[in-house]
Amino acid sequence: MYKGISHTHLAVVLLFLVLYTVKLFLLITNKTAALEALRAKTKVADMILGTLIVGTGSYLAFVHPQLPMAYIVKIIGVILSIPLGIIAMKKSNKALALVVFVLFLYLYGVAETKSLTFSKENKLITTLDVERGDAVQGKTLYENLCVSCHGIDGKLGAGGAYDLSASVLKRADIAHVIANGRGSMVGFSNQLKASDIASIAAYVETLRK
Ligand code: HEC
Repeated sequence: MYKGISHTHLAVVLLFLVLYTVKLFLLITNKTAALEALRAKTKVADMILGTLIVGTGSYLAFVHPQLPMAYIVKIIGVILSIPLGIIAMKKSNKALALVVFVLFLYLYGVAETKSLTFSKENKLITTLDVERGDAVQGKTLYENLCVSCHGIDGKLGAGGAYDLSASVLKRADIAHVIANGRGSMVGFSNQLKASDIASIAAYVETLRK
């Protein structure tokens, strides 16, 4: 369910962006007649796309146990920029239409990287770190940081979270996911030391028994 909605969300967002880009191009190159024709033709499609974006987006935000800051900014940005884009096109305001376009691209980048500055921090966790991971220390950290999505036993699956008791990842790969995140899971590299990440990874392995 979560995966399906998440894919639908991405698909309608991309479709919306493509349509907007074509209209922006027509606007900037002064192809007014073509723009008017396209706007008339896509009026209903735009309404359906807009509704789908907000609908699927609301669902995803609602089931996400811990919305990262970047997502909150993204949601506010989208709510503001969609009406701005509509106004810009209606008034044939090139500058505003361009600003909204850049805003859309920025928000898309934020959604993809889960970061307001697009930083994909890749914390390097050495094999030694991983081997020294201490499951006892990891347990406390796991209970503080992970249970909202994965649950105490790893099986909760909130917001599409993977069942950790069924995971087949090696400890080093678990550490990598914890550090950098994956899919809609945020990474923890900027709030945890490598040794902590390794300890959590060691604890996650014990959830399999
Ligand atoms: C906001 C919800 C959320 C939080 C908090 C969260 N996760 Fe996740 N986790 C997910 C989601 C969603 C996935 C599936 C990612 C994907 O689709 O690729 C996942 C996947 C994983 C995987 C990959 C499992 C596999 O076999 O592929 C591991 C390991 C993992 N999480 C560990 C953790 C640990 C450890 C913590 C705490 C430090 C944590 N997660 C916190 C949502 C979360």
